[in-house]
Amino acid sequence: MTASNRVPIIGGNWKMNTDRTTGIALAKAVASGVASLHAQGKKVEVAVFPPFVYLPMISETLCAAGSNIALGAQDVYHAEKGAFTGEVSVGMLKDVGVKTVLVGHSERRHVIHEGDDLINLKVRAVLHHAMRCVLCVGEKLEQRETGQTNTINERQVRLGLRDVRPDELDRLVIAYEPVWAIGTGKTATPQDAQDAHRHIRLVLADLFGKDAAAGVRIQYGGSVNAANAKELMSQPDIDGALVGGASLKDVDFLQIVSAACGG
Ligand code: PGA
Repeated sequence: MTASNRVPIIGGNWKMNTDRTTGIALAKAVASGVASLHAQGKKVEVAVFPPFVYLPMISETLCAAGSNIALGAQDVYHAEKGAFTGEVSVGMLKDVGVKTVLVGHSERRHVIHEGDDLINLKVRAVLHHAMRCVLCVGEKLEQRETGQTNTINERQVRLGLRDVRPDELDRLVIAYEPVWAIGTGKTATPQDAQDAHRHIRLVLADLFGKDAAAGVRIQYGGSVNAANAKELMSQPDIDGALVGGASLKDVDFLQIVSAACGG
């Protein structure tokens, strides 16, 4: 992928929400809405990230609908198998149809206290298994207020991608999600978000070269909704959105997907 053909990518992070009935209904409605956008020739990639236990069920739902929505997992453990009670490996995720994995989400970093070293192991494990990895980064409010936004993002990108090979980059997506904007109804202004994305792309260019960096998609996340999505995604370095709250309502989520392809 190059700068000129970065296809927008929208993720619906369901977090610890839904149950069997509501999850299936949501997946069906989203699959049908995305299918009609694709039938109109719109270019957009969509992924949904249900809770672990519902992955096989949502995989079946999407398959039955003939959907090309990618099934995503909200987290993973880097080891292949063994005595890691409560954890789930990349191979297990693959086995149930998962194509893309979130790593280092803000709630994993700040609620579950995952550090950059563990996040890096997870990123490498996902990429190594030829799956897409969405590395999430973002600053906290006090870090923004003290002018550290770019420093924090840069550190999380550099540490998260340590020892990642250039040939693995086509499977990498970065999600910039300012922590203070997640689930709060506050969003970064389009210009502030663009500035952070641009800096992240410069860091990627430093790590992997300008051309490779130009091909990596960087999603914005943090209180994205139907009303603010279009303006955010019209910024040159914003290539889609990672959506939490608004991904739980099919109509809202589909409006965001539609905004990503200019509609
Ligand atoms: P939000 O969550 O859209 O509810 O702010 C985004 C995320 O955490 O990915």
